[in-house]
Amino acid sequence: MTQRQRKYLTTPIYYPSGEPHLGHAYTTILADVLARFYRQDGVDVYFLTGTDEHGQKMQDEADRRGIAPLELCDLMAARFGAAWERLEISHDRFIRTTEAEHIAVVQAFLTRLWERGEIYEGAYTGWYCVHEERYWTEKDLGPGGACPDCGRPTQHVEEKNYFFRMGRYQDALIEHIQSNPDWIVPDMRRNEVLGFLRKPLGDLSISRPKTRLTWGITLPFDSDHVAYVWVDALINYLTASGTIDPTAPAGQQGFGDVTGSWWPADLHVMGKDILTTHAVYWPTLLMGAGLPLPRQILSHGWWVAGETKMSKSLGNVVDPLALRERFGTDAVRWYLLREMPTGSDASYTPERFLARYDELANVLGNLASRVIAMIEKYRQGVVPGAPGTSLDARIAATMGSVRESMEAYRVHDALAAAMELAREANGWVEERQPWAQAKDAGAAADLDETLATLARALVTLAALFQPVAPAKMAELCTRLGLDRVPTLAESGSLAIAGRRVTKGAPLFPKIETAGVA
Ligand code: MSP
Repeated sequence: MTQRQRKYLTTPIYYPSGEPHLGHAYTTILADVLARFYRQDGVDVYFLTGTDEHGQKMQDEADRRGIAPLELCDLMAARFGAAWERLEISHDRFIRTTEAEHIAVVQAFLTRLWERGEIYEGAYTGWYCVHEERYWTEKDLGPGGACPDCGRPTQHVEEKNYFFRMGRYQDALIEHIQSNPDWIVPDMRRNEVLGFLRKPLGDLSISRPKTRLTWGITLPFDSDHVAYVWVDALINYLTASGTIDPTAPAGQQGFGDVTGSWWPADLHVMGKDILTTHAVYWPTLLMGAGLPLPRQILSHGWWVAGETKMSKSLGNVVDPLALRERFGTDAVRWYLLREMPTGSDASYTPERFLARYDELANVLGNLASRVIAMIEKYRQGVVPGAPGTSLDARIAATMGSVRESMEAYRVHDALAAAMELAREANGWVEERQPWAQAKDAGAAADLDETLATLARALVTLAALFQPVAPAKMAELCTRLGLDRVPTLAESGSLAIAGRRVTKGAPLFPKIETAGVA
């Protein structure tokens, strides 16, 4: 028997210093749609998300609220968990960097680097942006000493730090990127990283003295320092993979052999803001520890409001849960993934949201209602059996193009193709005029053909939309007399004839459009 294919995919772990917003929801839903697509295809998926709980930003927010950092983390990690549940995120593991297991893995990882001579002690003089939790050199800074990424003021720091010899891996990393053209997707982002690597790559500060920050993981070789939050955070992917056993004796902790664990990750999904940390810091740290690199990195664009990135501190965030209250989870998921071309920026507007919602209601929802209603009316609710028609060829072709787009992470194209099939099926109804066929005693076989084909189209559409609209597609399948949503492979050959359909309320009800924000 061939081994089942396995895929390990991750989202960033979010700073739980504020509520999850539309940007966080997008990344998580994008990864979730991929996870559901793979599972539906029979792949054994391990899907990880979580929260990044240490660092200056969390410490400052806890101070501002007058609570202990861990109290803030507990409170907010639960908020993220609840949001993901409402948005039907199907993660297998929610990691928190304050977990004992993670702390032990970070310490084992740093001990490993220390013992291999990858870390040295030095003095750091430069600038720090608390919001991005990033170190910058003088030449990186924007006008007035601002953070080049977010434009906020930076802090001058002069402190004893430990450094990881990142610079020594520059050539190896460039070589890796050049010989694996698909390692960073899309191409535009890959070129950005290669551009960044044209400048000499410095070493990476990996610690902060406890005199400045105590909210972090203590370094195993100097208890007066904590690990730099980005190093701590990136290692979460390894912790959750179950590769490292920090309780085992040195040499047997899993740094040499990853078989039997989930490492290496198949796909890290993240926004373009944190591409460098994932495509430069993380792989070089792994090289330093002697571990294989993740197989692929998918970096998407930003949800913007006007010209600026949506972010809590700019006060321009959209609450995905408020949208969900109004339109339902599946509509939010559909909007986010259909509207943003994977990789580019997109702007949230209520008008676009409504336009996308209308597609669900008027094209997909309408097709489902009318087909089920006609099977009830003309065939006593039982799907007739009949040979294929021209629409069947379109069904098969759409399955192929959806798969191709999903495999290239062009999720928006995959969803557009699926919706196009629903639109064509509606057009085909008009062409075939089943209501006229029903009136014509000689056209019984034609009517069977029409209804059977449309039922097959609905089954395929349920499979195609299932990753993005899991709840509604489960509901649609129930109405089609199926006990679950078929896989893509099954959907093409499923025997739908003879199933009993049931009418129901519209899958995507018409919405009062006034006051959508
Ligand atoms: N904690 C780090 C990540 C560590 S991963 C080892 C962090 N957290 S964050 O809370 O700031 O989340 C950043 C991620 O959230 C982005 O990379 C992106 O995936 C998502 N987004 C946050 N704002 C976004 C938009 N406005 N638009 C799209 N995605 C956005 O960075």
